[in-house]
Amino acid sequence: MKILIKNIKELVQVEDKPVLKVCGQNMSEIHRIKNAYLLVDKNIIQDFGYMKEMPENIKVEQIIDASNKFVFPSFCDSHTHLVYAGSREIEYTDKIRGLSYEEIARRGGGILNSAKLLHNTSEDELYKQAMLRINEIISLGTGAVEIKSGYGLNLADELKMLRVIQRIKNSSKVLVKSTFLGAHAIPLEFKNKQSAYVNMVINEMIPAVAKEKLADYIDVFCDRGFFTVDETDKILKAAFKYGLKPKIHANELDYSGGIQVGVANDALSVDHLEYTGEKEIQALLNSETMPTLLPGAAFFLGMINPPVRKMIKAGLPIALASDFNPGSAPSGNMQFIMSLACINLRMLPEEVINAVTVNGAYAMGLSKKAGSIAKGKIANLFITKKIPSVEFLPYSFGSNLVEKVILNGEIMNI
Ligand code: NIG
Ligand code: FE
Repeated sequence: MKILIKNIKELVQVEDKPVLKVCGQNMSEIHRIKNAYLLVDKNIIQDFGYMKEMPENIKVEQIIDASNKFVFPSFCDSHTHLVYAGSREIEYTDKIRGLSYEEIARRGGGILNSAKLLHNTSEDELYKQAMLRINEIISLGTGAVEIKSGYGLNLADELKMLRVIQRIKNSSKVLVKSTFLGAHAIPLEFKNKQSAYVNMVINEMIPAVAKEKLADYIDVFCDRGFFTVDETDKILKAAFKYGLKPKIHANELDYSGGIQVGVANDALSVDHLEYTGEKEIQALLNSETMPTLLPGAAFFLGMINPPVRKMIKAGLPIALASDFNPGSAPSGNMQFIMSLACINLRMLPEEVINAVTVNGAYAMGLSKKAGSIAKGKIANLFITKKIPSVEFLPYSFGSNLVEKVILNGEIMNI
């Protein structure tokens, strides 16, 4: 279908020559066109520009008037665990009473609790639950999402999760990337036999996942109390042989060495990064790895914030993602993530917009297809409600300011 959006108050994050990522000082700039039009043809962004330059007599099937409204490229949420069974609000109240994330995990709660729930849930039911979350994030402006396994922790259940992700990929209009996270936690049966579990991930799970082509990336929770740097290195090297590039959990709980081992293995991204010091910044500066921050998890768990100002000043790019999961971030609302990043991380609205679009797309290997308004990219975008400025989006936290969503060139029913 051919769609014309006209009288757009501002068309945000436009690119004539698309870049792969935006770094350092450049993060505080976004390109926009005031009083603009945008033309979508089939599933592609065909053309855009100033209203006064809009070609006359364009034949289209649908015209949308976006007076007083902004058009943004859809959010690229490069880190989620949104396939899960049930919920964990009981642990939430334990946390309010004073238990830490690690204490809950040691009691067999946390990830292991989700693994038990997932084991007892059918593939169809899991898909149904996950699709409710997908439809919710679509209505909040997300157009590309990475989803991890990691609540299986045995071969059959990890494959079950990955097949659900595959089904979402095939059936939904959002762009989906899939990540195998067998090394998310040590299952109870392997307590005190951690290396045996690591061997199982390497020798059984990775080959099986690769054989069914169920994953685009490999992830390991490299942190204090979870997987060590050596174990992470071994797993990443084994996955590399099957063409799986790393996107890892690192430095959420400590200066774990996760960032360095990720960079050494040419990770596409290293994520969380609450514990980032000079050494970690240096390692990232000499790499193509995208530092990805998850302020929803730091907010929910009451953790320290990563030193974002230092990182940007040093010249690093930053991506922001939701971490949507039942334990540390039960929300996939990227508008709220933008607000958190502004308020808690002291990122500027422009920096945040770059972090949830272009840099988010990079962190999931989608730079060519998503992350900006550029000719030839997939038509994944949203039209806001009537708002006064770009800054209003992160400023008015808690509201959904998305009015209309177009994904793969189709107007979504939200
Ligand atoms: O990204 N840090 C590790 N994994 C998830 C939490 C998973 C859970 O608690 O269920 C995270 O925060
Ligand atoms: Fe995570």
